[in-house]
Amino acid sequence: MSSPAPVLDLAAIRGDFPLLDQRVNGHPLVYLDSGATSQKPQAVIDAEVAFLTRSNSAVHRGAHTLAAEATELFEDARATVAGFVGARPEQLVWTSGATAGLNLIAYAIGNASIGRGAPASTPFALQHGDEIVVTESEHHANLIPWQELAARTGAVLRHIPVHDDGTLDTDAAAALIGERTRIVAFPHVSNVLGIVNPVAELVALAHAVGALTVLDACQSAPHLPLDLPALGVDLAVFSGHKMLGPYAVGGLYGRSEVLEGLPPFLTGGSMITTVTLDRAQYLPPPQRFEAGTQPVSQAIGLAAAVRYLQGVGMEAVHAHEKALEARMGEGLRSIPGIRLLGDASTGSATGGGSATDGGSATGGGSATGGGSATGGGSATGGGSATGGSGVERVGLWSFDVEGVHAHDVGQILDARGVAVRVGHHCAQPLHRRFGLTASVRASTALYNTPDDVDTFLDALSGVRAFFGAGS
Ligand SMILES: Cc1ncc(COP(=O)(O)O)c(C=O)c1O
Repeated sequence: MSSPAPVLDLAAIRGDFPLLDQRVNGHPLVYLDSGATSQKPQAVIDAEVAFLTRSNSAVHRGAHTLAAEATELFEDARATVAGFVGARPEQLVWTSGATAGLNLIAYAIGNASIGRGAPASTPFALQHGDEIVVTESEHHANLIPWQELAARTGAVLRHIPVHDDGTLDTDAAAALIGERTRIVAFPHVSNVLGIVNPVAELVALAHAVGALTVLDACQSAPHLPLDLPALGVDLAVFSGHKMLGPYAVGGLYGRSEVLEGLPPFLTGGSMITTVTLDRAQYLPPPQRFEAGTQPVSQAIGLAAAVRYLQGVGMEAVHAHEKALEARMGEGLRSIPGIRLLGDASTGSATGGGSATDGGSATGGGSATGGGSATGGGSATGGGSATGGSGVERVGLWSFDVEGVHAHDVGQILDARGVAVRVGHHCAQPLHRRFGLTASVRASTALYNTPDDVDTFLDALSGVRAFFGAGS
């Protein structure tokens, strides 16, 4: 029997987040927009303030005591954040966020493609007709940089579709990823669907043809235990402000051979060994990718965020948010006129369960690798069913309310103090795939309570009636 999920001390956790203790429109704030940006514990605010009030100085530059102290704090922060994702410090490049990290990768590969950094960068150079594979579920940050790279190099951009139930079509992926594929970029967790993608399967497909894998871990890093080297990805990005940390800081993880082979994107101060008027020689990673002044106080704040998450424990965070996700999913399914985006528990819109590799599924369940699932349950890898489906999720649901525009839904919820995200969530192609231009998204973090979920569901249940769109 597996041990029971650890229970979080929610009162203590909420006490650490000063912003949560306020009323909005006369109601206690229910913050369900952590997928857009998370709230910050006092420890993060204090860490940044302490740095700025006591230790602020230019890192890696000055010879004075304060500069040495700032440099030490900055590099300690790197080691802490790298450790959080299972990496070594030299495998973590600071960025200003996930968008910056993904652009860095795409532009570095673009530079390799025009011969910069050769011969070490040659394996990363794209040729006309090479293929870059993304998914239909990308945030624009993991789509547009690849569109631009394809346009600059003559490479072809292809995409792995998602099924009606939101899961990735891995059969299509297997057919698509072939000898011309050079890059496979995909989200660990879609910021619209909340579904954890099958990283190992995609990495295996990509590596079988020698393609580079790029993981967008923005929506997993705050919610799941994350070990990027163990996942086998070549490169990955995550975002500080989504994982209890400050704005304008993020991490780019790279396998050492990959970082060592790639040429820089931004160039300038702090990333060189020798410069003449004609040319420059670059430092090894990570500094090679850190031109100019870095987000120092933010990096120190992010390390405090990571320590906070580690203090709670990522297994416990994940278990807590899974319970919130299940409660929210069940409640949403019970409200008439709500269509969930990516709901594998009720079977796909094409109807019914699915089974592969000898699994069996009935009643809308799904099973892979010899597991079996019934009645909407599911199993993978021979395990038994838990929750409503075998699809691993984080605490995030997007949905459409029949007959009511997402923005109107958002306003009604806001009037009850409930903060959710409305719009396309920077994922227009995925919304188009589901026949929508916008949806409502409720997303949790470790500080949310079952009461938050219930208040949200209660407020939502009256929305269609309010607009005369149904009960
Ligand atoms: C999946 C995903 N990728 C990338 C980003 C962009 O992250 P950042 O704000 O750090 O640039 C986001 C933010 O919404 C996201 O959810």
